[in-house]
Amino acid sequence: MNYQKILEEIHAEVQPLLAKSHVADYIPELAHISPKKFGMAVLTSEGETFQIGDATEKFSIQSISKVFALTLAMRLEGDAIWKRVGREPSGTAFNSLVQLEYEQGIPRNPFINAGALVITDMILSHLDNAHETLLAFIQKLANNKNIVFDLNVARSEKETGYLNIALANFIKSFGNLKNAPENVLNAYFHHCSIAMTCTELAHAGIFLANKGKLPWNNEKIVAPNQAKYIKSLMLTCGTYDSVGDFAYRVGLPGKSGVRGGILAVMPGKFSVCVWSPGLNETGNSLAGTKALELFTTLTGISIF
Ligand code: DON
Repeated sequence: MNYQKILEEIHAEVQPLLAKSHVADYIPELAHISPKKFGMAVLTSEGETFQIGDATEKFSIQSISKVFALTLAMRLEGDAIWKRVGREPSGTAFNSLVQLEYEQGIPRNPFINAGALVITDMILSHLDNAHETLLAFIQKLANNKNIVFDLNVARSEKETGYLNIALANFIKSFGNLKNAPENVLNAYFHHCSIAMTCTELAHAGIFLANKGKLPWNNEKIVAPNQAKYIKSLMLTCGTYDSVGDFAYRVGLPGKSGVRGGILAVMPGKFSVCVWSPGLNETGNSLAGTKALELFTTLTGISIF
């Protein structure tokens, strides 16, 4: 398979979309970026990397961190997670408050903001320094120590994240946060601010394509069935209320973030990360989604 040629074709084809989208600006620090940026990287299970465009430029991973937080929580708590978080698509925006009230503070899934706050709370109950631990865990997954927080992004979100602050307090009122909301929020904002490139994210996701093990040293991150659970949740909940459209077009488990990154995996074959900061109306990268659709079409490889 000539992955490099396919990436070049995709790069050319998405160009008209780059001008047509808007970057997230509800976190002030995210407003200053050109929607023309585009990068993509593929890591195969044989260890080969292919990349194009801005694939080596760092961006904040935002909600893609929810995959790594869930993985860490599964290692710490196993199935006990599911007493406090659901496993159903929400059909609402990633930061919606409405369902939480009639579902008694139990978030629909770990990939909406409410669910990630509960997952972060679980991690905090085991480890005082939840955000440093998650960063070290991602460095291990990516086999790369050169990954750090973007502290300007973390601070900007802390100063203006009124909706997340409301969500955390609302969940606390139902008794589904054990720690102080401000501590949970501080860890959560740091998780979202972790800055990585497409190439680094493709490495950090490869354990999911490899039955839960790191391919370079065979280290077990999670059991094969847990890797399956995480990918199933990415497929059903990873791109919020456009998850059906994403599954239809791309045909891979994927997780997006509002800075425009999307990480997707093909079991047994590859992990792929695309980045383009211009978003569609549901908060997923417009050109990134198209690029992944083209990638599975041109390679003929998807889970379906
Ligand atoms: O909590 C927030 O609103 C952001 N830090 C992350 C949201 C996000 O990435 C949703 N994804 N599409």
